[in-house]
Amino acid sequence: MAKKNEHAARVRRARVTDVPEMHDIINEYALEGLMLPKSKGELYEGIRDFYVAEGGGRILGCAALHVMWEDLAEIRSVAVRREYRHTGIGSRLVRACLREAAALGLPRVFVLTLAPDYFARFGFSVVDKDSLPRKIWADCLRCPRFANCNETAMIADVAAILHGGAAAGREGGRTEAREAVASDRG
Ligand SMILES: CC(C)(COP(=O)(O)OP(=O)(O)OC[C@H]1O[C@@H](n2cnc3c(N)ncnc32)[C@H](O)[C@@H]1OP(=O)(O)O)[C@@H](O)C(=O)NCCC(=O)NCCS
Repeated sequence: MAKKNEHAARVRRARVTDVPEMHDIINEYALEGLMLPKSKGELYEGIRDFYVAEGGGRILGCAALHVMWEDLAEIRSVAVRREYRHTGIGSRLVRACLREAAALGLPRVFVLTLAPDYFARFGFSVVDKDSLPRKIWADCLRCPRFANCNETAMIADVAAILHGGAAAGREGGRTEAREAVASDRG
């Protein structure tokens, strides 16, 4: 199992041919209760929301930005292939979503997560779930854990993370220019 080089991974928009690997990555963690499961049908329908990290001819991770309202989007389905974790891929995927939110004119993004400490690193703050728009509960109603939800709601100011002092994940803005190029190429 080679130790992965974060720079070997390229972040780009997802394609339909990526779905089987995205499905495997997400649902392996879903089986452990770490994130919500996704069917292939949901992934195909939502393919325009997704970014993937690709390296060595494989999909190494994925993340999605789902627009909810005029001023709010959700970052969801953030997952990195187990043996490639801790190499900055998750941070690059989250920042790709944040850059797209900025490009779309969305001031704020939220997450519903079982890994609040991870998102706190980017500058997300915990909020009361009830402060989020009712619309987000449409997805929650389909969740097997709806009655016993243990996810933390967190929200962040997009500009503050991308241009402000927030840590922006593992490697800050250092790779911003390179990622922008890679994402646009995708
Ligand atoms: C959470 C996840 C996406 C992070 O991806 P990653 O590529 O490993 O993250 P990065 O390399 O960008 O950052 C790693 C750092 O984030 C922190 N971190 C990673 N996972 C974390 C977690 N679950 N909780 C808190 N902090 C975490 C660690 O401090 C780590 O630093 P280290 O490498 O020095 O130990 C990945 O671990 C994963 O796929 N987990 C399973 C699915 C999941 O929990 N998704 C979260 C959204 S629901």
